[in-house]
Amino acid sequence: MCGIVGYIGKQKASPILLAGLSKLEYRGYDSAGIATIEKDFIKVAKDKGRVENLYNLKETKELEGTIGIAHTRWATHGIPSKINSHPHLDITESFAVVHNGIIENYIELKKFLEEKGYEFISDTDTEVIPNLISYFYSQEMEDSQNNKNACLRVLKAVKNACEKLIGSFSIEVISKYMPDNMIVVRKDSPLVIGKGNSENYIASDIPAILSYTKDFYLLNNFEYVILSKDNIKFYDNKLNEFTKQTTTITWDAMAADKGGYEDFMIKEINEQPTAVRETIGSRIENGKCIFPELDFSKEYLSSLNLIYIVACGTAMHAGLAVKNTIEKLCKIPVIVDIASEFRYRNPIVNEKTLCIFVSQSGETADTLAALKLSKENHAKTLAITNVIGSSISREADFAIYTHAGPEIAVASTKAYTSQITLLTLLTLYLAETLQTISQNEIREIVDELLSLPSKIENVLKNIDPISIIAKNMFKEKDVFYIGRGVDYVTSQEASLKLKEISYIHSESYAAGELKHGTIALIEKGINVIGIITDSNLVKKTVSNIEELTTRGAITTVIVNEATEKQIDKTIFDNVIVVPETISYLSPIVSIVPLQMLAYFVSKEKGLDVDKPRNLAKSVTVE
Ligand code: AGP
Ligand code: GLU
Repeated sequence: MCGIVGYIGKQKASPILLAGLSKLEYRGYDSAGIATIEKDFIKVAKDKGRVENLYNLKETKELEGTIGIAHTRWATHGIPSKINSHPHLDITESFAVVHNGIIENYIELKKFLEEKGYEFISDTDTEVIPNLISYFYSQEMEDSQNNKNACLRVLKAVKNACEKLIGSFSIEVISKYMPDNMIVVRKDSPLVIGKGNSENYIASDIPAILSYTKDFYLLNNFEYVILSKDNIKFYDNKLNEFTKQTTTITWDAMAADKGGYEDFMIKEINEQPTAVRETIGSRIENGKCIFPELDFSKEYLSSLNLIYIVACGTAMHAGLAVKNTIEKLCKIPVIVDIASEFRYRNPIVNEKTLCIFVSQSGETADTLAALKLSKENHAKTLAITNVIGSSISREADFAIYTHAGPEIAVASTKAYTSQITLLTLLTLYLAETLQTISQNEIREIVDELLSLPSKIENVLKNIDPISIIAKNMFKEKDVFYIGRGVDYVTSQEASLKLKEISYIHSESYAAGELKHGTIALIEKGINVIGIITDSNLVKKTVSNIEELTTRGAITTVIVNEATEKQIDKTIFDNVIVVPETISYLSPIVSIVPLQMLAYFVSKEKGLDVDKPRNLAKSVTVE
């Protein structure tokens, strides 16, 4: 969570830092702050609230320095308040730090420092970091043999401090002892460095600084970096200097802007035809799916007795959406698991298990930990992420990418449909290698994949009925989503979308399961949304919906051109028709009107669609 930005160069730092923070605000938005080096002292401007508050602070306007660090917070320890906002200073005001992550042993460290006379003013875990650096810096100074320059002394102090920290962190450090430099390091929290021309940039995410540079250094754990405006020096965990290559990012800076749309979410919903098209990209050649980056042999795949798909939230739903596809086409059982559960339940993982990790950001802490656990247990690991160079993609044995472009809105939309697309392409590749699929089946699925962008476009053209339903729904307290098979997965994802951006309580149920308890909640006027895209299951789901109509529910159904013909439309209050596709791919089409519904409900309620309360885009803490 949280967004970090840094600038070191010849221009005034604060406007660049503010612009970067605004772009990163989707990562956390309960407080924001900046610190710059002003000749021989550090100046801080910070407050509770959003980045826009920071623009107007008197202290912000007074920042003149050309070296600065900045932070938009998603509080983990200590309420959102001015004092708990980052940057945090040490007791001597010589070091300023911004931090993303959690210091799990901060209480012990605080005690250790308090015994040495250090005092703390905030409730955060972060405040121990500048004070530990300060403590180790003073130790360095006491060492009479020490003739290092100030910058290397600070580096040593930062390293000694980091070695004491348990948890996750990416930090930026400035100090009055090194007025021309900045030091950064990360462990299990994201941080990238953008290389400019006599100026350098730091950020938690690439989009924040994409308008300044396309050349990035991707940091690994415990790589320490000293930056000046003209130089970037890398040190390993023993402080030996080493060289690092830049990675060129091809994303268009415009892609990280709203491009005329009111919100990122609606822009990203509308980008789905392109995102799906780009994800298919050049993976289909002569009617076959190709994955040159994977070297799975038939022998290896035949030796597998289980595939795990591990992820969180929407990415986990993408796994659920393809579970059946993989099982049917590859004849290998698939377990889809929530990363935070998987990592602590001692799952059966070994060399006969292929573990797939799905993550838009590639930085989700639980997914990353689950991946490390699987590697320790000798499983092959495959990452599916949207961010090149992200931690999960670098940690996995193999990485393949969705090409959805930057996803900024907290509610994931285009990443989800792209993930299902890529997972389906992957399934075809696996099934073909295993020879468990016929050429005709491949051809049929490939043809349907290629027609998806135009089918999604079709849905996007027909939004008026959805906005009308939203107008009638936005005052509701509870909404139920039901479906069977893949439609149950769509109902889970649709329900998550609604609750996260509209704050309306909503539940999703397998349609046949409702009468085993939940139906007790159905009363007159409750909104129920049924998804019915599988011709074999129409009658079953319709009967379940009728059981609810009888009890007074207001019903909306999502059907496709085939299932529409099988229902009596007059028994439902609203009917939305989407284009037909094969059931393996129907989650990609049928989720789109439901993403829209959540969006319109949130707009009707006047909420901040892109930045819903209590949430952040990348969950880089447990
Ligand atoms: C989606 O709308 C959510 N905001 C959330 O569930 C998200 O999908 C989840 O946190 C996983 O993120 P990741 O894909 O970046 O790992
Ligand atoms: N743990 C720190 C805090 O609560 C940093 C949280 C973040 O990553 O924003 O302030």
